[in-house]
Amino acid sequence: MSPRKIIIDTDPGQDDAVAILLALASPEDIEVLGITCVAGNVPLSLTSKNARIICELVGKPDVKVYAGCDRPLGRELVTAEHVHGETGLNGPVLPDPTMPLQDMHAVDYLIETLRAAAPKSVTLCPLGPLTNIATALTRAPDIAAAVDEIVLMGGGYFEGGNITPTAEFNIYVDPQAADIVFKSGISIVVMPLDVTHKALVTSPRNAAFRALGTAAGTAVAEMTDFFERFDKEKYGSEGAPLHDPCVTAYLIDPALFKGRHINVEIETTSELTMGMTVADWWGVTDRPANALFIKDIDADGFFALLTERLARL
Ligand code: RIB
Ligand code: CA
Repeated sequence: MSPRKIIIDTDPGQDDAVAILLALASPEDIEVLGITCVAGNVPLSLTSKNARIICELVGKPDVKVYAGCDRPLGRELVTAEHVHGETGLNGPVLPDPTMPLQDMHAVDYLIETLRAAAPKSVTLCPLGPLTNIATALTRAPDIAAAVDEIVLMGGGYFEGGNITPTAEFNIYVDPQAADIVFKSGISIVVMPLDVTHKALVTSPRNAAFRALGTAAGTAVAEMTDFFERFDKEKYGSEGAPLHDPCVTAYLIDPALFKGRHINVEIETTSELTMGMTVADWWGVTDRPANALFIKDIDADGFFALLTERLARL
């Protein structure tokens, strides 16, 4: 089977970085057409720098990286330095990038690439706020025809929220954008906190990254060592939740995951529950299913795959 063509839309962020590395380490499964950056964990100037740092860390300076939207559609930008540190990639000391950003705006790149693509031939993998994706779909609704699937990290239901009691960060930052994407009619797979909080970098798993003895393995160990603080303190977790790498792992081995096709709608009016993913897990409404909402993961299988693929870099 030929590798799946994907565009990664991202706000690196240590967990985004691991998701990007997993994709770059898996050419037989994934062809990364490009990486589009969005403001989220840290401002756009840093997310678009961090994406290039990660590509150069593993000797991939030819990956095309684009800067996109620097703020949400209709709200002030909320960032997450309290989780990811001032740079967004705190943990390892990594050199500044030498590879250039592409001149084209990420939204123009998404539109141009999808308009030139065959029907249902590209998978979009948003790992941050959905501003770029929603902007492209609004400016050029015709591009939806080229999208096979959107596999995104965002939302939460049984787990509640991680930035407010009811909202997960990616959706909370740009709820209007999320609403556009979830109403787009495109097939969506959602990796919410309900599953990502089961993908924890325990000490043995972190030790396995470090034991690779490679620049990538050491960087991943140092990144997860840093960004586990927030979740350990807040949730008493055993380690950092690898939110975004669940997206990439799903592309490689969907059998690692279990979920349900349900209706998911986004709170965009009440400030109390702004950005909540209202997931009709129990089918109590007649709202049509619009997403595969993932709840369970084979965590040992996930980490075995991740560690094996990181060893290739
Ligand atoms: O809530 C977790 C999500 O928000 C992850 O994608 C993390 O990188 C941040 O973007
Ligand atoms: Ca992210």
